[in-house]
Amino acid sequence: MSWAEELSACGARVEAVLERWLPPSGRKPCRLHEAMRYAALGGGKRVRPALVYFTGRALGVAPERLDGPAAAVELIHAYSLVHDDLPAMDDDDLRRGRPTCHRAFDEATAILAGDALQVLAFEILADDPAMTPATAGRLEIIRLLARAAGTAGMAGGQAIDLEAAGQVPSVAELEHMHRLKTGALIHASVLMAAASADTLPPGAAAGLDHYGRALGLAFQVQDDILDVEGETAVLGKRAHADAALDKPNYPAVAGLEAAKKRLRELHDEAVGALAPLGEAAAPLRWLSGWLTERRH
Ligand code: IPE
Ligand code: IPE
Ligand code: MG
Ligand code: MG
Ligand code: MG
Repeated sequence: MSWAEELSACGARVEAVLERWLPPSGRKPCRLHEAMRYAALGGGKRVRPALVYFTGRALGVAPERLDGPAAAVELIHAYSLVHDDLPAMDDDDLRRGRPTCHRAFDEATAILAGDALQVLAFEILADDPAMTPATAGRLEIIRLLARAAGTAGMAGGQAIDLEAAGQVPSVAELEHMHRLKTGALIHASVLMAAASADTLPPGAAAGLDHYGRALGLAFQVQDDILDVEGETAVLGKRAHADAALDKPNYPAVAGLEAAKKRLRELHDEAVGALAPLGEAAAPLRWLSGWLTERRH
């Protein structure tokens, strides 16, 4: 299988895991369960789960052990998108090529669906019997995801993002916001897989930590570039959304060419950080390149 085929296999795998854990839509309260399934299933690139599986593969971890972390990080991500799209935040109508959750249902249901997706992530990490048998490893995974989702990660970054509307931050301030709102969950995806391994080769922990940080920032730089250059039909979400909300993004603050240069630098940095893992890290190298070139 090519790495691109492996990537879609990861997507199919996590879809099946999510399908198993999400409450059935016929169970009461049906509307809430329908909204949760609508937000989490049948869409998205599944980049964070792929990072969990690809990192685990580089470390020789069985995929069954990684299903819990892969599903959990995707649920946190799906919840963050539902809330990000709400009228009180980015007020978007389109996500993953279809109406946003609050448009398909209603705002109150979307808020609750986000809440419930978030706690389901932690229920999975506490309950999944196939995860690492070491209790310390499981606790570390829970800690990693909680930190990445909280005020030092995604939620904190989203708060900075809201405050930044109408402002002109420095590049350093913008990168700090990007590392929190988006980078943290990507970084955590890599580290949760590392925490699922029984042992790590020398230098792997520091290398993966560095890779996850560089890739996490790169991901939002590319999201910002696509917001400026992309088309709604290809993105599956509204293009030029940042400018419409007067939100500073990377091209607006640093210029489009500087944003693209920074993206290439971060890709090189991510790939370089994998040196201690040798050939085993080939899928992670490929994924960084794929993300840098993605058009949606
Ligand atoms: C979009 O993330 C929001 C950001 C954090 C930049 P993705 O580009 O991973 O969205 P999906 O999951 O593929 O829809
Ligand atoms: C969102 O950043 C990051 C999240 C934590 C959801 P954006 O607001 O730029 O994400 P999109 O462009 O709506 O996907
Ligand atoms: Mg936003
Ligand atoms: Mg948004
Ligand atoms: Mg964006």
